[in-house]
Amino acid sequence: MRHLMSPMDFSVEELDKLLSLADDIEKNPAKYAHACDGKILATCFYEPSTRTRLSFESAMLRLGGQVLGFSEAGSSSAAKGESVSDTIRVISCYADICAIRHPKEGAPLVGSQKSLIPVINAGDGGHQHPTQTLTDLLTIKQKKGRLDNLTIGLCGDLKFGRTVHSLIEALVRYENVSFVLISPEELRVPSYIREEVLEGNNIPYKEVERLEDAMADLDILYMTRIQKERFFNEEDYLRMKGFYILDPKKMELAKQDMIVMHPLPRVNEISVEVDKDERANYFEQAQYGVYVRMALILTLLEVQV
Ligand code: NCD
Repeated sequence: MRHLMSPMDFSVEELDKLLSLADDIEKNPAKYAHACDGKILATCFYEPSTRTRLSFESAMLRLGGQVLGFSEAGSSSAAKGESVSDTIRVISCYADICAIRHPKEGAPLVGSQKSLIPVINAGDGGHQHPTQTLTDLLTIKQKKGRLDNLTIGLCGDLKFGRTVHSLIEALVRYENVSFVLISPEELRVPSYIREEVLEGNNIPYKEVERLEDAMADLDILYMTRIQKERFFNEEDYLRMKGFYILDPKKMELAKQDMIVMHPLPRVNEISVEVDKDERANYFEQAQYGVYVRMALILTLLEVQV
């Protein structure tokens, strides 16, 4: 039995297979409409979510399966003091596969250790978000046609943004990938990402503060929200909140074939006028999240179609 805690849990070959499966699902949805008949997905969300939880549920329903779960800790026995480990152990008697999101780093991993069914990390605190990374990889593959030979700009809250951490870990395994890390000094990527993941793999990267200085070089601009819920005080958040705003004027500095991505939700870091720009891909990215989660469910449940 396999779980998914980090994008590194899949080899590059396995990722290729998963992305090809997602591509086939997009093209031939009818072929997969009953692949999970009789199977149940549990979504255990101890933190707010729109896309991740609903795209997981949509994915299972589109595979013919069913879903159950909770969308806030307060409506689960966590409110009575039950441990994540006990909750997931019990849920593994009710479902065939489980996606869990939790504000504490490592909680899904703890939950997986006593589980009888595959457990998927749907975001753990400021740590990892592997299924967003699968979504991002599929988006890049479909839009740029490749996962190698890319310069990727990651902009915003690189310290607390778990999608950024997972995406960097996944992309360093492809050839000739370089990064431009665009953040205020206080929100730089954690040192373990810089030292172990980037420098440890000899990946070229630079850190800059101004988005304008990076734009012209990028094949992909990955914008992120300042992660309000991870700040220790409101004042710091308010100071950081308007730091980056991508607008049509800044888009003029970018290559014609650059793509703009964002895991969403957006607060104010991309102005709505950018939505009209052909290079804006964040809503399609959310759509790819369904296909890739369908592929993931099939893979972890070992369903052959
Ligand atoms: C992200 C998350 O939860 O980390 N959202 C998502 O799953 N698409 C990004 C965010 O909340 O900023």
